[in-house]
Amino acid sequence: MNGLKIAIATGPSGFVTVNSILEASKASGTSRLDWLELGLAAAEADETLHDVGVGGMPDALGRMSLDAAIMDGPTHRAGAVAGLLGFRSPIAVARRVMDCTPHVMLVGEGAKRFAEAQGFTDEGALLTDYSRERYEAFLRGEVDLEATGDQHIDGGDTVGAIVMDTDNQLACGTSTSGLAFKMPGRVGDSPIIGGGLYVEQGIGSAVCLGMGEQMMQVGMAMRTVMKLAQGLPPQAAAEAAMRDMIRLRPSCLGTTCLVIALNQAGDAGGARTKEHPDFHYWQATQSGVIKIEAPVMGD
Ligand code: GLY
Repeated sequence: MNGLKIAIATGPSGFVTVNSILEASKASGTSRLDWLELGLAAAEADETLHDVGVGGMPDALGRMSLDAAIMDGPTHRAGAVAGLLGFRSPIAVARRVMDCTPHVMLVGEGAKRFAEAQGFTDEGALLTDYSRERYEAFLRGEVDLEATGDQHIDGGDTVGAIVMDTDNQLACGTSTSGLAFKMPGRVGDSPIIGGGLYVEQGIGSAVCLGMGEQMMQVGMAMRTVMKLAQGLPPQAAAEAAMRDMIRLRPSCLGTTCLVIALNQAGDAGGARTKEHPDFHYWQATQSGVIKIEAPVMGD
């Protein structure tokens, strides 16, 4: 049976994600894409995680506007949704975009119509008691958006995951509620192929966590995979890509950003701009789950 070789995932939601991937991979007749979708969907469904799905933080209008993407190595196909309102599992909708349409990304109203046509239920605002309370505090001017420099309030800001099966086939995905109380319509790196995620079978994959405006302007995930293509090991590739971003966009040092990578040999690496308790990653293999702190490149 084709099983899980390794999975890695970013931030606090990464723990739930890699454990769910590990569990999902035990079911017969399932594939890397199923494990990835179920792993990310578990994080989306967990109301205690404030960076993705139903537990996430709303936009400035109090709407849970969710982004997600999935990409498969062997077929080099991707699917993404952005600004999806009312659906609790954007990664499931992104997978349907990949599997059921000739397109890559659907946004806003079109994404909503597609999700409904695919049988997903529009659940409206999706706010939890906690996110509503935080939104009301934001409206009262009591939330300090500058506290962390980049609106990573109450947690990370994304879960990005990479899966490799025992046939060495790769897939990656992301899901996020984006920056807390973001400008309506704002989309970050997470659903952008090459920005927040990228995979190239035979080379490797990378996913990002952090300030999307920084990472999408340097094509961070694609850039990291291209470093792998040049023969760098994942740790060196992540560090080299992070150094590129710091050179091109020195302002990224005022924000928290993490890129993690997996190469075709199943080795992982990562690098981040600065210290932040949530900017780590998790790795799951058949030997268990471990937490990894990526080196800080900014100092
Ligand atoms: N990294 C997620 C975002 O910037 O929206």
